[in-house]
Amino acid sequence: MRRPTPFQVAVHIAALTPLVALVGAALTDNLTVNPIQEATFRTGKTAMALLVASLACTPTYTVFGFRPALQVRRALGLYAFFYALLHFAIFFGLDYGLDVNLVLLELAEKRYILVGAAALLLLTPLALTSTKGWQRRLGKGWKRLHRLVYPAGVLVIFHYIWVQKSDIREPLIWGSILGLLLVLRLPPVRRWVVGRRTRLAVAFDRLRQRPHAG
Ligand code: HEM
Repeated sequence: MRRPTPFQVAVHIAALTPLVALVGAALTDNLTVNPIQEATFRTGKTAMALLVASLACTPTYTVFGFRPALQVRRALGLYAFFYALLHFAIFFGLDYGLDVNLVLLELAEKRYILVGAAALLLLTPLALTSTKGWQRRLGKGWKRLHRLVYPAGVLVIFHYIWVQKSDIREPLIWGSILGLLLVLRLPPVRRWVVGRRTRLAVAFDRLRQRPHAG
């Protein structure tokens, strides 16, 4: 096994910090007057942020040529799935007392629950097939399967919008970030960005190599 780079270590620490903070707050009775709701909010928000972060890895490489971003893409996606599962477990286990009928009723009545569940369902096969072995086994299908992460991201944004009763500014900001990341994925946009980056790098190199006047 290769030793993790400092950047990878930093990403793991950053991804685990909300979990440590949540457990710490729960153990010290510091999760507001409505601890289950607070834990649902926190895990949901973290899952969404990590999902968007994992989707930002490839565009970060495309735009800035920052290769280490590619090394943390899978870990970020898996952390996002982990927090989404925890989010669901808190909802199902603590909030609804494992009452399947009640959850099914909510699923039929509340659209935000329906899209949240759809997002979680889409993310599940991605997490399960995220290993190198599955990547090899599925060949070209793996890439196609993993494109499901985009509809999952869109569903999460709708989930967040519909969870909010009035002020939807924050979900709209997250939605715009996701939209921008999706646009950067489009082949013509990506080609244009890579072209600009390469030309800029060449120009910068020439400038550096030019002998100083005087
Ligand atoms: C079966 C799946 C899911 C269920 C049942 C569910 C349920 C919930 C519930 C009950 C809330 C709080 C609503 C409120 O009290 O007003 C919530 C909020 C939220 N959920 Fe989910 N959720 C699911 C999937 C997901 C997934 C997959 C993500 C992200 C990857 C996610 C992200 C969020 C976010 C960002 C919030 C808002 C947090 C905030 O307002 O700070 N949820 N969800």
